[in-house]
Amino acid sequence: MKRLGLISAAAMFASGAAMADELSVVCSAEQDWCDLMVAAFEAENPDIDVLMVRKSTGETLAQVRAEAGNPKIDVWWGGTGDPHLIAAEEGLSQSSDVDTSELLGWAQNMAQISDGRTVGIYAGALGIAYNADILSEKGIAPPECWGDLEDPRFVGEIQVANPNSSGTAYTELATFVQLFGEDEAMTKLAAVGQNVNSYTKSGSAPSKAAARGETGVSIGFMHDMVKLASQGFPLKIVAPCEGTGYEVGAVSIIEGARNFEGAKKWVEFSLRADIQSRAPEVGAFQVPSNSNAQVAPESPDLASIKLIDYDFATYGSSETRERLLARWDAEVGDPNPEQ
Ligand code: G6P
Repeated sequence: MKRLGLISAAAMFASGAAMADELSVVCSAEQDWCDLMVAAFEAENPDIDVLMVRKSTGETLAQVRAEAGNPKIDVWWGGTGDPHLIAAEEGLSQSSDVDTSELLGWAQNMAQISDGRTVGIYAGALGIAYNADILSEKGIAPPECWGDLEDPRFVGEIQVANPNSSGTAYTELATFVQLFGEDEAMTKLAAVGQNVNSYTKSGSAPSKAAARGETGVSIGFMHDMVKLASQGFPLKIVAPCEGTGYEVGAVSIIEGARNFEGAKKWVEFSLRADIQSRAPEVGAFQVPSNSNAQVAPESPDLASIKLIDYDFATYGSSETRERLLARWDAEVGDPNPEQ
């Protein structure tokens, strides 16, 4: 429908020809998966024209908040679940009433916490990656635990995202709090911060930098690291000895969406087993939420990782996130925030 003049639009109405509906999607997963999803959705729904942008999870929450009452986004697909839960709590997303019966318990849990306003689409564990070539050239012993990242041997070698913009880094912040308690978590994150060379906007950027040898060590989701290692980069993946947290990636329809019907079609589409099974085509190795979807052999096996019982209701609440981010800004902080 975009770029159609009044006359041609009227002519189309008169002739009964179908006009394309626009669907505005913000995607907070990796760009190549976003692109695959749009192409697959448009192939099945030729009457819907998807306008998609990729944005990190915290940045998307900020946009959804800023546009409350006049949203430009219809559906928000992907990204860590906590900011999706916060949007739900703040009345910024709406129930899509979709059938979740084929989904695994952790995905249904998101719908239960949010009164159906958000649903889980994938899961993935947080970890540490290091560039084996860089660490061996520099004679640095690899990390095995979160605590190792505080060691001065890693000064200037660690990259991680900023938890204000990135859902990945917020998952790390919430994981530290759940492992060590809030005060000690801040102390530990500040100590790790002494070794951080830069806080990126997006959660997967640090592992990409480690893969290319621009930093020795990264913190991020293991499935993003597996993707890079499978492309031949000398990246080694560590499940931290203390245990680790995980994300449940989510999908939400924004309150006041201009194209609710299209958004609902997108949500139903993205929960289907056959669609989730296509993720490995683009190296998206998360665990799919549909119990009938195929799990890629490359997907990190969550059962073999020491996972904490991540408390999504608490860390996906507005009050907790705002408090933790304020403390992170004051006690850890990013000396050079990316614009
Ligand atoms: C990557 C991961 C996703 C995750 C997302 C969060 O794309 O593959 O599993 O949900 O990062 O992105 P963010 O930039 O908000 O950390």
